[in-house]
Amino acid sequence: MTNPIFLSVPHIVGNEKKYVMDCLDSEWISTSGKYVSDFENAFASCVNSPGAVACVNGTAALHICLILAGVKPGEEVLVPTLTFIAPVNAVKYVFAEPVFVDCNDFLNMDMEKLEKFLSTECVSEDKILVNKKTGRRIRAIIPVHIFGSICDMDRLMALAEKYNLTVIEDATESLGSKMLSGRFAGMHAGTIGNFGTFSFNGNKIITCGGGGMITAKNPEFIKKAKYLTTQAKNDELHYIHDEVGYNYRLTALLAAMGLAQIEQLPKFVQIKRRRYDEYKNAISEIPGLSILDIPSYCDSNCWFYSLLIDKEKYGLSRDQLMKKFAAVKIQTRPIWKLNHEQKPYRECQAYRIEKAKHYFDCILNIPCSVGLTDEEFNRVMNVLKNIE
Ligand SMILES: Cc1ncc(COP(=O)(O)O)c(C=O)c1O
Repeated sequence: MTNPIFLSVPHIVGNEKKYVMDCLDSEWISTSGKYVSDFENAFASCVNSPGAVACVNGTAALHICLILAGVKPGEEVLVPTLTFIAPVNAVKYVFAEPVFVDCNDFLNMDMEKLEKFLSTECVSEDKILVNKKTGRRIRAIIPVHIFGSICDMDRLMALAEKYNLTVIEDATESLGSKMLSGRFAGMHAGTIGNFGTFSFNGNKIITCGGGGMITAKNPEFIKKAKYLTTQAKNDELHYIHDEVGYNYRLTALLAAMGLAQIEQLPKFVQIKRRRYDEYKNAISEIPGLSILDIPSYCDSNCWFYSLLIDKEKYGLSRDQLMKKFAAVKIQTRPIWKLNHEQKPYRECQAYRIEKAKHYFDCILNIPCSVGLTDEEFNRVMNVLKNIE
């Protein structure tokens, strides 16, 4: 009986059990207690942020950042069409409208098209950017750093500054990725824009089962994020609330798990990078297949390995190859259906979407867990080489 190989599963080999048991023994298992602040502090120092606020999941983190960015009902937010849907849904949570942008060859937002859209499809007056087609104000932009590769933040930040857009980086998939060159050299994904968001969902590079984190450049927003995620309590004793708050705080039990995981992040990133190189070299020998590149300015966490399939040269389509993997119990996954084609968003503006359609058809993500063994790696390669 062959064991199944999953796409991306947790790797629990550090202090997880110790900290969770300690948390249970202390009986401080809810949203107070030391583990929540310990996790926040460890996270902030790991990504070199002035602070961090833990919350229930990455989607809640995005929701809070959109509120803090001052996005108002009826305004617009620029988002990629090629991403998991969470950042797009979060735009709707604040009653704003997404405007979809195409991707480049690293699957990140295409800066050429973004620049063209801003300069030709919008007008800017008194630092207010208005979409000529809809007449709505565009307030913010959410670059999503796909599969570990950071967006071209030099160009993106220059555009955001020129057009007065607030930047919320969705760094969910790129925890541990850093800029190697340019204006932001040495900085971590999620700490370059005004806000950063992260998720600790089960398939992420570190996980606590479910959870999220908010970072912000301005320490005032860190405080405000904590306030909003804990029901906007102005007075602890008399329960006075000056604003609408949210019950988005992470529990200490999950934070204990998160703390143990973040301690291991540098090791996990090292393993992911090594395996990325191994896959890339081995797959480069197979006609019609390659592993998606990483931009030269980015030191990626190599979270996911995206296989590019040239159907004519390889002889199998993405779906045929996926079935072949499934037959030998190896889980693989195509990238997300594009958001501008999803039912709730079909009527929203989508600007010149071309590359995202191409990549949707020819990418398959292959097993990438931190704990993937050499034997499992060989099984994946055997399928690709048509041996298994
Ligand atoms: C890019 C991106 N943003 C946000 C999320 C949502 O995070 P969560 O599942 O913690 O709400 C995910 C995936 O989980 C994601 O891949």
